[in-house]
Order: sequence, then structure tokens, then C-alpha cells
Amino acid sequence: MQNSFAKDVKKGLNAKLKYLESKYFYDEKGDYLFQKIMELNEYYLTDCELEILKNHSEHYRRFFQNAESHFSLVELGAGDGYKTKVLLEHLAENQTNFSYLPIDISGNVLKILEAEIKREIPKLKVEPYTGDYFNALDTLNKQEAGRKVLLFLGSTIGNFKYKDALKFLKKLNQRMNREDLLLIGFDLKKDPNTILNAYNDKKGITEAFNLNLLERINNELGGNFNIADFYHYPTYNPVNGEAQSYLISKKEQKVTIKSLDQSFHFQKGEPIFMEISKKYDTETINKLAKEAGFEVKENFFDQKKYFTNSLWTKR
Ligand code: AVI
Repeated sequence: MQNSFAKDVKKGLNAKLKYLESKYFYDEKGDYLFQKIMELNEYYLTDCELEILKNHSEHYRRFFQNAESHFSLVELGAGDGYKTKVLLEHLAENQTNFSYLPIDISGNVLKILEAEIKREIPKLKVEPYTGDYFNALDTLNKQEAGRKVLLFLGSTIGNFKYKDALKFLKKLNQRMNREDLLLIGFDLKKDPNTILNAYNDKKGITEAFNLNLLERINNELGGNFNIADFYHYPTYNPVNGEAQSYLISKKEQKVTIKSLDQSFHFQKGEPIFMEISKKYDTETINKLAKEAGFEVKENFFDQKKYFTNSLWTKR
């Protein structure tokens, strides 16, 4: 029985328009490269969201605090928690009664995060969960009756097509109660060049981040991709707000993947679709919230209005 990585790679490379799923970017090297991306000047998203979290920590605390009772702050896709720490510090300093439950598919980053929080905010109760968000929420709902505040930051929702984002949010909604909250980060439409540059950095880190998935296939599935025979090609469509990344085959070539027992043929110039990073406007955010069964309480912006953290409740 093949694992889901193998199955998804097989499905994607056998499709008429070849694709690979961006959720597989995050092996150990992928986690590292994404951290490097977040430090890039061109990748404005991190600084903008950090600015929002810094400026609105107190607003958030007032919304999250549930009289005297305890709440669970559940972070979906916590990663290294770099931005969240600002909020956690503020909550902890103001005697807020809560526990922090970071969830991520990468156990590796969660270990780093837990160790850092123990050192920097020792009084905070951290209960990490490695694995699937929905399984984690189901487990939590069985164990804890109090308010849940879900954080889904960093514009990760942008890595879904609109239709899939809606499906995902409906599933989240089903696992929420009336008093629960969702704080979700959206990258906003802006000057198309600013967006394109964020996915086309001069140092080539984003290119390496995309190519790393081919390396992962080589390492884990016995592929023989020659990484130098592909290049990164990012696009941005200012009409629908979709930034898309492709890897392009530099020549006609055949790639064999042993554990799939199959070879794949690439034409010169043929693309592999790698990732969507959708950019939103407030109108589309409102529409998405409504269709998924939420009400938008408030949108919090950075000064440049590049990014928003949108606070939702269940309708
Ligand atoms: C994780 N995610 C929100 C990032 C994004 O901006 O879509 C992943 C990324 N891909 C290339 N650069 C960053």
C-alpha cells in the first residue's frame, strides 16, 4: 500500500496538466526554506501580519477573553510560531486564562516552537498536536467544553483555490460552537509587481523552495529528477488575484520514479503547476465568510492595507 505522498504524486504527474500539491513542500528542508522566505524583503506578508498582531493584541485579547473562564487558543499550521509569539506574550502578560494548542503536520517545527515558548513564556501552557487539523479539533471537542479561538494565520487559506477554501472553512465551521472565534489571515490584492516579486525573490529562495519538492520525490520515492533541468516560473493575475507557481522543464526528458514503478515524459517548456497563493479583497472575504456559515466581526489591517486578519464567528 503506497502512502498518500506517493499516491498524490502519481495522480499529479499522470494528469494532462501536470501538478504537484504544495502541502508537500514542507519536509525538513522545506520548513527551513520557508523560514528563509519569511525573512526576505520581497516577502512583505510576514512583516504586515506581524504589524497587525502587534498593534491589535489588546483588541484581540478583549474579543478572545471569555469572562473569567478558560479558552483554548488553537493555531492551525502553527509552523515556528514566529508571529504568534507577539500575541501569546501579550495575552500571558495580561493574566488571560488560556492554553495554547499549536497544530501542525510537521512535528519537527512544533518541537522547536514548544522549546522556544517554554524558554520565553514559561508560564504559558502549551499542548502541541502533530497531525491533521480536523482530527485535532475532533479530539479537542471531546476533551474541552470551553471557548475555542482558532488562528489560521499567514495567508495559508490563499494556498487553496476559492472552491477548496470554502470546503475547508465549512468543515472548520462544523467543528465550532456559537461562542468560538476564528482569526484568519488574508493577503490582499495590491500592485501586481509587489505580489509577483514576493514569489520571485532575487536570491532564488522561492525557486529552491519549489525545486525542493522534486528533491523530496527523489529522496523519498526513488525519483531521478535532475533539478537543474527545471526552473521556477511564477505568475500573477490581477483580475482573479491568483499568484501561481510552476516548474518548467528546460528540455524534453524522461523522469523515472522507482516506487511508483513509472516513468514520466516532459516536453521542452512543459509546466508542472506547483502552488496557488490567492489574494483577496474585502468583498470576496465577506462572500467567503458568508458562504461558509460565518459572520465577519472585524477586519484588522496593517498601515499599507497589504494584509488583513479577519475575525469571524459562526452565524
Ligand atoms: C504558506 N503560504 C501562505 C506561502 C504563500 O505565500 O503562499 C507559501 C509560499 N510559497 C512561496 N512563497 C511562500
